[in-house]
Amino acid sequence: MSSHPTVQTPVDEVPPAQRLPMTLPLLSEKKRLTDPIVMVTAYDYPSARAAEAAGVDLVLVGDSAATTMLGYNATTPVVLEDMLVLARAVRRGLRTPLLIGDLPFGSYEISDEQAITTAMRMVKEAGCEAVKLEGGGEASVRRARAIIGAGIPVMGHVGLTPQTSTALGGWKAQGRTAAAASRIAAEALALQEAGCFALVFEAIPSGVTEELMGLIDIPVIGIGAGPATDGQVLVFHDLLGIRDGLGPRFVKRYANLQQEMNDGVSAYAEDVRSRRYPGPEHTYSINAAELAELRERLAPTLQEREL
Ligand code: KIV
Repeated sequence: MSSHPTVQTPVDEVPPAQRLPMTLPLLSEKKRLTDPIVMVTAYDYPSARAAEAAGVDLVLVGDSAATTMLGYNATTPVVLEDMLVLARAVRRGLRTPLLIGDLPFGSYEISDEQAITTAMRMVKEAGCEAVKLEGGGEASVRRARAIIGAGIPVMGHVGLTPQTSTALGGWKAQGRTAAAASRIAAEALALQEAGCFALVFEAIPSGVTEELMGLIDIPVIGIGAGPATDGQVLVFHDLLGIRDGLGPRFVKRYANLQQEMNDGVSAYAEDVRSRRYPGPEHTYSINAAELAELRERLAPTLQEREL
């Protein structure tokens, strides 16, 4: 019997050094075994280290970075160059999760050539192993097919697609009528047929997700799509509470790091103002003789200043 951990071994029983890097066949195997797939977003080295330590399967450098990292109020302003900087930092912090780079708005819609060029930059310059693009309409499916044709795995994304949320009527659940849900089904099937290795279902009623799951053979990762999907994804800042406000209904908060950060920086500021920081334990020492000699050397300069 192989001594390697298999996909069936719970990740918390596998020593991190022995964990196998996630691959596309392993991901399909997880779906076949109904072993829940864990995905999280990351945008820098520390968030990547946290994802690695938790043994998650998939890490997405999401264009949600526009809001979580860059302070925009939508995902549309983030540009490819920003995404590459963030993805490179994430790459340096990861060993085992599969790294997926989100294609930002405006970086893939214009032509197949533009889409392939952008996806290639994500792979060559940032070390991403796959890319994700939003939408299951004709144009998105064509771009997905082109990128896959160039040898880069693509994750699709249907339901609420924040890059085009204005056209979708705002930041709200999708597929709440039979007609709208059928459109999502058609988009998901078209992306699967184009060769996507997995799909994200975002903000879809859980009853709709249950119906659609029977149609889809590739892994489906949900965010606000209920428990029937093959896995779940959450935005790093949402799950750790690095944000103001509660965020969307589907977010479960596992920490309140924004409050922790505010408290930490306030305590530091208070310590500096009250001269409690730095204490003796935070300072470097110098030999007494060296200090005496320094005083002698500085004395003439000090005298000149006093004149
Ligand atoms: O950009 C992002 O964070 C995403 C996830 C919500 C899937 O697309």
